Amino acid sequence: MLGRLNHVAIAVPDLEAATASYRDQLGAKVSAPQALPEHGVTVVFVELANTKVELLEPLGDGSPIAAFLERNAAGGMHHICYEVEDIIAARDRLAGQGARVLGNGEPKIGAHGKPVLFLHPKDFQGTLVELEQI
Ligand code: CO
Repeated sequence: MLGRLNHVAIAVPDLEAATASYRDQLGAKVSAPQALPEHGVTVVFVELANTKVELLEPLGDGSPIAAFLERNAAGGMHHICYEVEDIIAARDRLAGQGARVLGNGEPKIGAHGKPVLFLHPKDFQGTLVELEQI
């Protein structure tokens, strides 16, 4: 069911500092920041040869990463995103096995303009899992 690793997302308290760290210390190619108000984050994409890292900073009130940053003040890995060919088939299979799909269970359009769903971290080794239909 799982395809490629699409991205690893890291929540950060200071996007400018995190961008400088990846760009200047690690020598990575990083995008300009993009505000995604509908997702409550500002994101920078770190482009790697085989995948991406997304640096997420809270945007606005009620950001979905605000509580995470309260528990992890220095930042930390927030979620991991795997590609799937058919997100509805993947959701139905997982739900049929008792896995919890977050939200109302319907895919939303994610940061890359593709349908995404999130799976409860307690069902997947303590890791918030995002599925993205490619
Ligand atoms: Co993501």
